Amino acid sequence: MSLLEIKHLSVQFETRDSVIKAVNDLDLTIEAGQTLGLVGETGAGKTTTALSILRLIQEPPGRIKGGEILFEGKDLLKVSNEEMRAIRGNEISMIFQDPMTALNPIIRVGEQIAEVIRLHENCSKGEAMEKALYMLETVGIRPERSMDYPHQFSGGMKQRVVIAIALACSPKLLIADEPTTALDVTIQAQVLEMMNKLKQQFNTAMLMITHDLGIVAETCDHVAIMYAGELVEYGTIERIFHNPRHPYTNGLFGAIPSLDKDVDRLRPIPGLMPDPAALPKGCKFQERCEYACDKCRENAQMFTEIEPGHFVRCERAVRGEI
Ligand SMILES: Nc1ncnc2c1ncn2[C@@H]1O[C@H](COP(=O)(O)OP(=O)(O)OP(=O)(O)O)[C@@H](O)[C@H]1O
Ligand SMILES: [Mg+2]
Repeated sequence: MSLLEIKHLSVQFETRDSVIKAVNDLDLTIEAGQTLGLVGETGAGKTTTALSILRLIQEPPGRIKGGEILFEGKDLLKVSNEEMRAIRGNEISMIFQDPMTALNPIIRVGEQIAEVIRLHENCSKGEAMEKALYMLETVGIRPERSMDYPHQFSGGMKQRVVIAIALACSPKLLIADEPTTALDVTIQAQVLEMMNKLKQQFNTAMLMITHDLGIVAETCDHVAIMYAGELVEYGTIERIFHNPRHPYTNGLFGAIPSLDKDVDRLRPIPGLMPDPAALPKGCKFQERCEYACDKCRENAQMFTEIEPGHFVRCERAVRGEI
């Protein structure tokens, strides 16, 4: 049994004059202890997927239209609110992009970590604080700093505190939504290295959401490329990096500056993602795809296994035409 198995998940946002189809028939699997990278440009539906797993989609305007989110075989979309509260933090926890949204500015950092521990583990105040100090040390912050308030920390340190909180109850799954985007590059590398170490230490599985393929290469076992609410390609890191088959995946790789090629600027994929309130018939990438043909504009594309464990949603790629 997989740790997390999302089947046919569809999520939409219903506003007064439109229906935004943010996630469309999504399938995703994460095995215990493994890291899956979820990659895609802005608006692809990554955060919506993450929030759905924790059942934090605000309804309305959000609505989970269908599907299953099986965590250790149990459908999270069906458990009671009480059970879901126990799962959040204890079994699954999430790191948000901006550390300040997760920290309370008027509570000392040590107390904030201890509070989370006490909420989830049946222990005394003293024991919780002891564990909080240990967690701070684990993420590379001197325990004395537990008496400080969040604003006394640098951006990188704040994000470390958030990670300490997320890992305090040894969750089985950690969802990290762009955990290092707010940080500068050197700090980013340190935080990622630390997350990698902690993941091994605690054997935590991870859903790493990012638009940065460099981060994926450093942290993930598998990668799922998301476009307009769908997966367009999925496979192991090795397969996706050495044999990317979907034109969108290839476009993403083309957008990475390379040291050995003579490129003086990034080559982003021309055009924009389709309006999620008016998705085209057929392939959703057709408007930006240099290979799009009449069939691509007509037929919804199937997610097809082209080699063991490597899936692509592009019929032309499957047929070997591109
Ligand atoms: N509360 C909301 N109300 C209306 N539309 C929403 C809401 N939240 C998300 N959406 C829409 O759903 C789509 C998917 O958004 P989502 O935040 O999941 O994208 P994302 O892949 O996380 O993007 P980013 O990389 O910018 O974080 C977008 O079109 C977005 O505008
Ligand atoms: Mg997002």
